[in-house]
Amino acid sequence: MEQERSLYLNNAATSWPKPRCVAEAMSAFLEARGANLARGSASTRDLDTLDMVTTCRLKIAAFFGGPSTDPRNVTFTANVTEALNIVLKGFLKPGMRAATSSMEHNAVMRPLRRLESEGVSVTVMPCTKEGVLEPHTLERELGKGLDLVVFTHASNVCGTVQDLDLLAPLCNSAGVPLVLDTAQTAGVLPIDAARWNLAACCFTGHKGLMGPQGTGGILWREDFAAACRPLIEGGTGSFSHEEVQPSVLPDKFEAGTPNLPGLAGLLASLNWLEEKEVETIRRREEELGIRLLEGLLQIPGIRLYGKRTMRGRLPVFAVNFENLDNGRAALELADRWGIETRPGLHCAPAAHKTLGSFPQGALRIAPGFFNTEEEIDLCLEALRVLSREHHP
Ligand SMILES: Cc1ncc(COP(=O)(O)O)c(C=O)c1O
Repeated sequence: MEQERSLYLNNAATSWPKPRCVAEAMSAFLEARGANLARGSASTRDLDTLDMVTTCRLKIAAFFGGPSTDPRNVTFTANVTEALNIVLKGFLKPGMRAATSSMEHNAVMRPLRRLESEGVSVTVMPCTKEGVLEPHTLERELGKGLDLVVFTHASNVCGTVQDLDLLAPLCNSAGVPLVLDTAQTAGVLPIDAARWNLAACCFTGHKGLMGPQGTGGILWREDFAAACRPLIEGGTGSFSHEEVQPSVLPDKFEAGTPNLPGLAGLLASLNWLEEKEVETIRRREEELGIRLLEGLLQIPGIRLYGKRTMRGRLPVFAVNFENLDNGRAALELADRWGIETRPGLHCAPAAHKTLGSFPQGALRIAPGFFNTEEEIDLCLEALRVLSREHHP
């Protein structure tokens, strides 16, 4: 297998490469500092760790909620999957009613299905063929009475972005907590948890935030956090005289030693993002997206799912060939051109059903900030060759 060249177009799975400062910060933490959090003697190293984690908390709070957001309302987790599990299983009890969209990743769907088997009523709101959750669909469900709404900000399959400026006010007028999965949008699109009055804004650190794997979390609205039960209980380095889990934030949802090297890396990536600015990243990704999209639409024998313009979408493209299985196409792209993509169902069977690509799935091509125009053109040329070779 040819592995000299690698052209990474799988940024929807995880962003790569990371800014250099991320690995440097993680390595510096492990080599030079490395103390646990709130479990020492207030040595310089202990205070260094506390300072690093507190700064990271402050940055995340400001990043999602604005500068006056209380950093204690941030819970760190291993990823957005854990964050969503904490929120959904912490809030929903038998007899309650939750609604989600038909574009969800299994990080939302599976915890909901578990809760459904335990007596929570779960409604999956149908999205359009392009993956859009329309306001009237949400409104109709809210009208029937709901205790919680949860959905993804943007699809990890076809990049469709939900319009929070339209959808969030509907939940808020109905007084229903809204939980958002920002896995695909954090660091790439502006997110305003305060304006949208999100009950919980769940994020993962390793995609658009450019941090390391093993990081993620929740920015809570305080009243909603108070209504949730912690999923994991144990040592917090605080209230050690008590045998019950503390009820104060952030300790309530953060039992056990956190991923400190990961948080050191996440802090470095947040600093990098602050300097670059999300808008610069969005614009750059849009440029690459336009180039790729225009090229894709011109290749005979390729079917594109989701939106056919860059309006209301991320540069995450799902395609199928007329006569070539998407898994085979991904292998050929990797073997012959060193192009990394992701075929299959992307942990999102409901989304593929919505888009009409279930059960075969699709080939997902997801450029990121560090890709170049030349790389997009090379990918398009490879797709053209594959399409030609397999045209009936
Ligand atoms: C929309 C969406 N939600 C949830 C996840 C799960 O992310 P993680 O594996 O970081 O928990 C992903 C990752 O692919 C995603 O794209």
